[in-house]
Amino acid sequence: MIRVSSAAFGTAAAAPYHRGMATDTSAARSGAPTEEAVRAALATVNDPEIHRPITDLGMVKSVEIGADGAVAVAVYLTVAGCPMRETITSSVTEAVRRVAGVTDVTVSLDVMSDEQRRELAATLRGGQAEREIPFAKPGSLTRVYAIASGKGGVGKSSVTVNLAAAMAADGLKVGVVDADIYGHSVPRMLGAEGRPTQVENMIMPPSANGVKVISIGMFTPGNAPVVWRGPMLHRALQQFLADVYWGDLDVLLLDLPPGTGDIAISVAQLVPNAEILVVTTPQQAAAEVAERAGSIAVQTHQKIVGVVENMSGLPCPHCGEMVDVFGTGGGQRVADGLSRTTGTGVPVLGSIPIDVRLREGGDEGRPVVLTDPESPAGAAIRSIAGKLGGRQRGLAGMSLGITPRNKF
Ligand SMILES: Nc1ncnc2c1ncn2[C@@H]1O[C@H](COP(=O)(O)OP(=O)(O)OP(=O)(O)O)[C@@H](O)[C@H]1O
Ligand SMILES: [Mg+2]
Repeated sequence: MIRVSSAAFGTAAAAPYHRGMATDTSAARSGAPTEEAVRAALATVNDPEIHRPITDLGMVKSVEIGADGAVAVAVYLTVAGCPMRETITSSVTEAVRRVAGVTDVTVSLDVMSDEQRRELAATLRGGQAEREIPFAKPGSLTRVYAIASGKGGVGKSSVTVNLAAAMAADGLKVGVVDADIYGHSVPRMLGAEGRPTQVENMIMPPSANGVKVISIGMFTPGNAPVVWRGPMLHRALQQFLADVYWGDLDVLLLDLPPGTGDIAISVAQLVPNAEILVVTTPQQAAAEVAERAGSIAVQTHQKIVGVVENMSGLPCPHCGEMVDVFGTGGGQRVADGLSRTTGTGVPVLGSIPIDVRLREGGDEGRPVVLTDPESPAGAAIRSIAGKLGGRQRGLAGMSLGITPRNKF
């Protein structure tokens, strides 16, 4: 069916094919595409931030088809000054151009009204009440891993971004929350330069290397420090989990600050099913502190998924022999200690050697698992990612949300 409307075409000069607009019959005779075919093509275009078809999001304002096969599509952007306007325009143009009978494509952009944005936010929420954390709900199939350590600088953030990039490269849908509010570093390490856009009270997270990511650093001007007390940290984390539109994730990684502070407690409260991944160096002192940080899980009733030993030796650049810069055995010591404390088997999931390429990749926003996947560090992290990402998303151990009926 062809809708003949001139709303999108102000003057004949601006849209020469306006003069050729015709009825269904003449269009059919002329071989012009049907509106159905054009809309089917538009359904293949995803919003670059929301990752859902623009047709499902109420973003297609109008479709006009001329008898000569020229198609004009008007698209609603969610917000004025949307950074993705060019991407949307070119994806729409490309998709429509492929439809048989299309001779020309024009895309015009408009901006959603407040009412339309509210409707979109409601669609995205799937009718859920506001401010729910989807990952904390009993039926959630997203695996949540909180990356923790006792001491600072042992490589939590490096491990987080590389695990995320490796899992995304394996085809999983992955999100990262930079839960280190004071010491945020994830966007740089992941190469996420975009700023989040806001639709009503929902935040669209930027993506980099196939990973969706949110960090307080995306909201602060320049390198301004965040000077907040505990309750504000809790609120920020809650917003990252509840107000950010993550879509259906397979895995969510939370990069925690070092130690057993406010954020670790907030994570336990907000996402009780988050499993803890403890990062340590091989050093005795670091291992002791890491064990302490891990054993907080006993108090918060969280599960420890395993231990990663980072900076486990440096291959000598001359002879190739391993130099144990930070000693040996820390990962195993932490795993043994945590197994005793929790009464469950806590495995060492892998050891990552010191590798200049890993550090450089972090500085440049190009994770080593992607740039140099076969390097010793890259391969070690990919193997850990395989173990964590390959675990079944299942409902085992989850509440079914039903209550047995009382017979009497
Ligand atoms: N295996 C490694 N080889 C070489 N450099 C590494 C390795 N792991 C981490 N680094 C480097 O060590 C530094 C600290 O790492 P990172 O920031 O990931 O640690 P962190 O535990 O997140 O620190 P913080 O506690 O401050 O958040 C970074 O410069 C990083 O590039
Ligand atoms: Mg860090």
